[in-house]
Amino acid sequence: MAQCKGLLHVLMALCFFVLTIEGKCPECFVRVGGRCVKVITDQLNGDEGYARCEQLGADLAVVDTFDYFIKLGSFLMDNYNDTCYSPTRKSISYWTAGHRDRTTNNFYWNRYTASINKTKIEFPAGIDVYLSNSNNNEDCLELVQNSDKFVVNDVSCNNLKIANSAVKLCSICQVL
Ligand SMILES: *[C@@H]1O[C@H](CO)[C@@H](O)[C@H](O)[C@H]1NC(C)=O
Ligand SMILES: *[C@@H]1O[C@H](CO)[C@@H](O)[C@H](O)[C@H]1NC(C)=O
Repeated sequence: MAQCKGLLHVLMALCFFVLTIEGKCPECFVRVGGRCVKVITDQLNGDEGYARCEQLGADLAVVDTFDYFIKLGSFLMDNYNDTCYSPTRKSISYWTAGHRDRTTNNFYWNRYTASINKTKIEFPAGIDVYLSNSNNNEDCLELVQNSDKFVVNDVSCNNLKIANSAVKLCSICQVL
């Protein structure tokens, strides 16, 4: 409860309302596109973001349908435009569970359990995806707000090669 502050009070009220009509999400999570979601607004690297979600019994977000992508995007723009600007990334960005497997170079939603039930991410039509791996360390997937929509981009999860260069973002936790 101590973590539910400010805006989250509003979200919790919404959560309570949603509980009565759509089934149950854990405390502090809200229902978005049929999933239970909570945004961590602290600026964290990808590993830290995952750890914070795990503490809540959740994972990072698995954005595997176009419907959820659109609804999640609306939810984020309605609530987190101001709180989730990343000074290190210079954009409004969020960690998801997408993670590159370096042996295949494909992305999977299993953030930390890539060895089990591997399903290569097939991005639904209509989603703009930019996988450049331009620094050869861009192993995490972010949702990045580009004008009035979100796109998917690869970014370094935890760049320790260059001092103070770690990208820190808000994290989307999701109960799987
Ligand atoms: C992996 O797939 C098997 C068979 O479909 C399923 O029983 C199991 O729950 C899955 N494990 C995870 C972690 O998703
Ligand atoms: C969030 O930003 C987007 C893009 O600039 C804008 O279309 C939307 O109206 C903003 N939402 C709020 C609640 O400010």
